[in-house]
Amino acid sequence: MGEERPILIAQVSDLHCGSQYHIPSLATRVVDEINELKPDVLAVTGDLTDMGFRQEFKVAQRLISRMDVEKVMILPGNHDARNVGDMHFEELFGARSTELALPGIRILGLDSSEPDLDGGRIGRERYRWIEERFSNPDEFKIVCLHHHLLPVPGTGRERNIVFDAGDLLRVLTSSGCDMVLCGHKHVPHVWRLENMVVVNAGTACSYRLRGKTKASYNIIEIYSDHVRIVLKHPFGEPEVVADFDRASRHACVWSPGSERDANCGEGV
Ligand SMILES: [Fe+2]
Ligand SMILES: [Fe+2]
Repeated sequence: MGEERPILIAQVSDLHCGSQYHIPSLATRVVDEINELKPDVLAVTGDLTDMGFRQEFKVAQRLISRMDVEKVMILPGNHDARNVGDMHFEELFGARSTELALPGIRILGLDSSEPDLDGGRIGRERYRWIEERFSNPDEFKIVCLHHHLLPVPGTGRERNIVFDAGDLLRVLTSSGCDMVLCGHKHVPHVWRLENMVVVNAGTACSYRLRGKTKASYNIIEIYSDHVRIVLKHPFGEPEVVADFDRASRHACVWSPGSERDANCGEGV
Protein backbone atom coordinates (compact mmCIF):
# COMPACT_ATOMS: atom_id res chain seq x y z
CA MET A 1 0.00 0.00 0.00
CA GLY A 2 1.42 3.39 -0.96
CA GLU A 3 2.05 6.04 1.65
CA GLU A 4 -0.59 8.72 1.92
CA ARG A 5 0.26 11.85 -0.03
CA PRO A 6 -0.22 14.82 2.27
CA ILE A 7 -1.59 18.21 1.32
CA LEU A 8 1.55 20.31 0.93
CA ILE A 9 1.79 23.99 1.72
CA ALA A 10 5.02 25.82 0.94
CA GLN A 11 5.40 28.95 3.05
CA VAL A 12 7.88 31.30 1.42
CA SER A 13 8.34 34.62 3.18
CA ASP A 14 10.28 37.85 3.18
CA LEU A 15 11.68 37.81 -0.35
CA HIS A 16 12.80 41.45 -0.05
CA CYS A 17 13.17 41.96 -3.79
CA GLY A 18 15.08 45.19 -4.41
CA SER A 19 17.11 44.96 -1.23
CA GLN A 20 20.87 44.75 -1.46
CA TYR A 21 20.45 41.68 0.73
CA HIS A 22 18.15 39.87 -1.71
CA ILE A 23 20.18 37.05 -3.23
CA PRO A 24 18.98 36.05 -6.73
CA SER A 25 20.81 32.71 -6.67
CA LEU A 26 18.97 31.75 -3.48
CA ALA A 27 15.69 32.86 -5.07
CA THR A 28 16.35 30.70 -8.13
CA ARG A 29 17.15 27.75 -5.91
CA VAL A 30 13.91 28.23 -3.97
CA VAL A 31 11.98 28.33 -7.26
CA ASP A 32 13.64 25.10 -8.41
CA GLU A 33 12.99 23.35 -5.08
CA ILE A 34 9.35 24.45 -4.99
CA ASN A 35 8.81 23.25 -8.56
CA GLU A 36 10.32 19.89 -7.63
CA LEU A 37 8.20 19.67 -4.49
CA LYS A 38 4.96 20.47 -6.35
CA PRO A 39 3.04 21.81 -3.33
CA ASP A 40 -0.72 22.21 -3.41
CA VAL A 41 -0.50 25.74 -2.02
CA LEU A 42 2.14 28.43 -2.08
CA ALA A 43 1.77 30.96 0.75
CA VAL A 44 3.92 34.06 0.42
CA THR A 45 3.67 35.77 3.80
CA GLY A 46 4.78 39.28 3.05
CA ASP A 47 7.76 41.55 2.51
CA LEU A 48 7.89 40.80 -1.18
CA THR A 49 9.77 44.07 -1.60
CA ASP A 50 12.12 46.25 0.36
CA MET A 51 10.53 49.68 -0.05
CA GLY A 52 7.19 49.04 -1.70
CA PHE A 53 8.39 50.37 -5.06
CA ARG A 54 6.59 49.23 -8.20
CA GLN A 55 9.73 47.88 -9.86
CA GLU A 56 10.42 45.78 -6.76
CA PHE A 57 6.90 44.35 -6.92
CA LYS A 58 7.43 43.51 -10.61
CA VAL A 59 10.59 41.57 -9.72
CA ALA A 60 8.68 39.75 -6.97
CA GLN A 61 5.83 39.02 -9.37
CA ARG A 62 8.22 37.46 -11.89
CA LEU A 63 9.87 35.43 -9.15
CA ILE A 64 6.58 34.10 -7.78
CA SER A 65 5.24 33.37 -11.28
CA ARG A 66 8.21 31.05 -11.85
CA MET A 67 6.87 28.84 -9.06
CA ASP A 68 4.45 26.49 -10.75
CA VAL A 69 1.78 26.20 -8.06
CA GLU A 70 -1.94 26.29 -8.78
CA LYS A 71 -3.18 27.81 -5.53
CA VAL A 72 -1.25 30.83 -4.40
CA MET A 73 -1.85 33.13 -1.44
CA ILE A 74 0.18 36.32 -1.46
CA LEU A 75 0.09 38.75 1.46
CA PRO A 76 1.76 42.13 1.96
CA GLY A 77 4.24 42.87 4.73
CA ASN A 78 5.33 46.09 6.37
CA HIS A 79 7.97 46.71 3.71
CA ASP A 80 5.33 46.40 0.99
CA ALA A 81 3.18 49.03 2.73
CA ARG A 82 5.90 51.66 2.46
CA ASN A 83 5.58 54.46 -0.08
CA VAL A 84 1.94 53.58 -0.83
CA GLY A 85 3.14 50.19 -2.01
CA ASP A 86 -0.26 48.70 -1.20
CA MET A 87 -1.53 50.36 -4.41
CA HIS A 88 0.96 48.38 -6.50
CA PHE A 89 0.33 45.24 -4.48
CA GLU A 90 -3.39 45.33 -5.21
CA GLU A 91 -2.81 46.03 -8.89
CA LEU A 92 -0.32 43.21 -9.36
CA PHE A 93 -1.53 40.60 -6.87
CA GLY A 94 -5.15 41.41 -6.05
CA ALA A 95 -6.82 41.70 -2.68
CA ARG A 96 -4.59 42.19 0.37
CA SER A 97 -6.64 39.72 2.42
CA THR A 98 -7.75 36.48 0.82
CA GLU A 99 -9.11 33.01 1.44
CA LEU A 100 -8.30 29.59 0.01
CA ALA A 101 -10.22 26.36 0.44
CA LEU A 102 -9.05 22.83 -0.22
CA PRO A 103 -10.91 19.66 0.69
CA GLY A 104 -11.07 19.73 4.50
CA ILE A 105 -8.77 22.74 4.79
CA ARG A 106 -9.52 26.46 5.01
CA ILE A 107 -6.79 29.10 4.80
CA LEU A 108 -7.40 32.74 5.65
CA GLY A 109 -4.84 35.30 4.55
CA LEU A 110 -4.92 38.48 6.63
CA ASP A 111 -3.16 41.68 5.67
CA SER A 112 -1.47 42.80 8.89
CA SER A 113 0.38 45.77 7.38
CA GLU A 114 -0.30 49.44 8.03
CA PRO A 115 0.84 52.19 5.64
CA ASP A 116 4.34 53.38 6.50
CA LEU A 117 4.40 51.56 9.83
CA ASP A 118 6.52 48.57 10.73
CA GLY A 119 4.08 47.30 13.34
CA GLY A 120 1.29 44.88 12.52
CA ARG A 121 -2.44 45.05 13.14
CA ILE A 122 -5.47 42.94 12.34
CA GLY A 123 -8.17 44.91 14.19
CA ARG A 124 -11.37 43.93 15.95
CA GLU A 125 -13.46 44.80 12.89
CA ARG A 126 -12.19 41.60 11.28
CA TYR A 127 -12.66 39.24 14.22
CA ARG A 128 -16.26 38.37 13.37
CA TRP A 129 -15.35 37.52 9.78
CA ILE A 130 -12.58 35.20 11.00
CA GLU A 131 -15.03 33.47 13.36
CA GLU A 132 -17.59 33.05 10.57
CA ARG A 133 -15.09 31.61 8.10
CA PHE A 134 -13.84 29.20 10.77
CA SER A 135 -17.27 27.97 11.79
CA ASN A 136 -16.94 24.49 10.23
CA PRO A 137 -15.62 22.20 12.99
CA ASP A 138 -14.48 19.57 10.48
CA GLU A 139 -12.03 21.77 8.61
CA PHE A 140 -8.33 22.17 9.34
CA LYS A 141 -8.01 25.92 9.86
CA ILE A 142 -4.99 27.99 8.96
CA VAL A 143 -4.35 31.73 9.22
CA CYS A 144 -1.54 33.38 7.29
CA LEU A 145 -0.25 36.85 8.05
CA HIS A 146 3.03 38.70 7.82
CA HIS A 147 3.64 39.90 11.36
CA HIS A 148 4.39 37.55 14.20
CA LEU A 149 1.71 36.77 16.76
CA LEU A 150 4.04 35.54 19.49
CA PRO A 151 7.54 36.72 20.36
CA VAL A 152 10.20 34.76 18.51
CA PRO A 153 13.35 33.66 20.35
CA GLY A 154 16.66 34.86 18.98
CA THR A 155 15.31 38.10 17.54
CA GLY A 156 16.49 40.64 20.09
CA ARG A 157 14.19 43.31 21.45
CA GLU A 158 10.51 42.58 20.89
CA ARG A 159 8.88 44.99 18.46
CA ASN A 160 6.40 45.16 15.59
CA ILE A 161 4.30 42.32 16.97
CA VAL A 162 0.63 42.53 15.93
CA PHE A 163 -0.76 45.36 18.10
CA ASP A 164 -3.85 43.35 18.94
CA ALA A 165 -2.04 40.02 19.28
CA GLY A 166 -3.71 39.12 22.58
CA ASP A 167 -7.26 39.61 21.34
CA LEU A 168 -6.50 37.98 18.00
CA LEU A 169 -4.95 34.95 19.72
CA ARG A 170 -8.13 34.59 21.73
CA VAL A 171 -10.29 34.84 18.59
CA LEU A 172 -8.15 32.24 16.82
CA THR A 173 -7.90 29.75 19.66
CA SER A 174 -11.62 30.00 20.43
CA SER A 175 -12.44 29.58 16.72
CA GLY A 176 -10.51 26.32 16.62
CA CYS A 177 -7.72 27.68 14.43
CA ASP A 178 -5.17 24.89 14.02
CA MET A 179 -2.20 26.74 12.64
CA VAL A 180 -0.85 30.24 12.09
CA LEU A 181 1.82 30.97 9.49
CA CYS A 182 3.77 34.20 10.08
CA GLY A 183 6.88 35.86 8.73
CA HIS A 184 8.52 39.21 9.44
CA LYS A 185 11.23 38.33 11.99
CA HIS A 186 13.34 36.30 9.54
CA VAL A 187 13.90 33.65 12.19
CA PRO A 188 12.09 30.32 11.85
CA HIS A 189 10.36 29.01 14.94
CA VAL A 190 7.43 26.91 16.09
CA TRP A 191 5.33 27.58 19.17
CA ARG A 192 2.33 25.67 20.41
CA LEU A 193 -0.30 27.74 22.20
CA GLU A 194 -3.27 25.73 23.54
CA ASN A 195 -4.33 23.68 20.51
CA MET A 196 -2.83 25.99 17.96
CA VAL A 197 0.58 25.77 16.36
CA VAL A 198 2.21 29.09 15.46
CA VAL A 199 4.84 28.77 12.76
CA ASN A 200 7.29 31.52 11.90
CA ALA A 201 9.15 31.47 8.61
CA GLY A 202 12.63 32.77 7.92
CA THR A 203 13.55 34.88 4.93
CA ALA A 204 13.59 32.63 1.87
CA CYS A 205 16.16 34.36 -0.28
CA SER A 206 17.86 37.24 1.46
CA TYR A 207 20.75 37.84 3.81
CA ARG A 208 18.68 40.01 6.12
CA LEU A 209 19.46 37.56 8.89
CA ARG A 210 19.78 37.57 12.66
CA GLY A 211 22.55 35.78 14.50
CA LYS A 212 23.42 32.47 12.89
CA THR A 213 20.13 31.89 11.09
CA LYS A 214 20.22 31.05 7.41
CA ALA A 215 17.74 31.74 4.64
CA SER A 216 14.87 29.26 4.83
CA TYR A 217 11.26 28.48 4.04
CA ASN A 218 8.70 26.10 5.50
CA ILE A 219 6.92 23.09 4.11
CA ILE A 220 3.71 22.09 5.88
CA GLU A 221 2.62 18.49 5.31
CA ILE A 222 -0.99 17.86 6.28
CA TYR A 223 -1.84 14.16 6.56
CA SER A 224 -5.22 12.76 7.55
CA ASP A 225 -4.03 12.08 11.12
CA HIS A 226 -0.98 14.25 11.69
CA VAL A 227 0.82 17.36 10.53
CA ARG A 228 4.49 17.85 9.94
CA ILE A 229 6.40 21.10 9.67
CA VAL A 230 9.60 20.92 7.70
CA LEU A 231 12.26 23.63 7.69
CA LYS A 232 14.11 23.88 4.40
CA HIS A 233 17.21 25.91 3.72
CA PRO A 234 17.81 26.48 0.00
CA PHE A 235 20.44 23.90 -1.02
CA GLY A 236 20.09 22.23 2.41
CA GLU A 237 18.54 19.04 3.67
CA PRO A 238 14.93 19.23 4.93
CA GLU A 239 14.60 19.23 8.73
CA VAL A 240 11.40 18.15 10.47
CA VAL A 241 10.85 20.71 13.24
CA ALA A 242 7.40 19.69 14.42
CA ASP A 243 5.13 16.70 14.09
CA PHE A 244 1.80 16.59 15.85
CA ASP A 245 -1.30 14.46 15.93
CA ARG A 246 -4.30 16.28 14.46
CA ALA A 247 -6.84 14.96 16.93
CA SER A 248 -5.02 14.78 20.26
CA ARG A 249 -2.40 17.41 19.51
CA HIS A 250 0.02 15.02 21.13
CA ALA A 251 3.05 16.62 19.71
CA CYS A 252 6.72 16.55 19.48
CA VAL A 253 7.46 20.16 18.82
CA TRP A 254 10.90 21.52 19.14
CA SER A 255 12.66 24.60 17.97
CA PRO A 256 14.86 24.46 14.90
CA GLY A 257 18.37 23.62 15.87
CA SER A 258 17.51 22.59 19.42
CA GLU A 259 17.70 19.11 20.91
CA ARG A 260 14.95 16.85 19.71
CA ASP A 261 12.30 15.97 22.30
CA ALA A 262 13.16 12.55 23.69
CA ASN A 263 9.58 11.40 23.17
CA CYS A 264 9.42 12.38 19.53
CA GLY A 265 8.61 9.58 17.21
CA GLU A 266 6.57 7.81 19.90
CA GLY A 267 2.88 7.67 19.19
CA VAL A 268 2.63 10.55 16.78
FE1 LIG B 1 11.03 41.00 6.21
FE1 LIG C 1 8.42 42.50 7.83
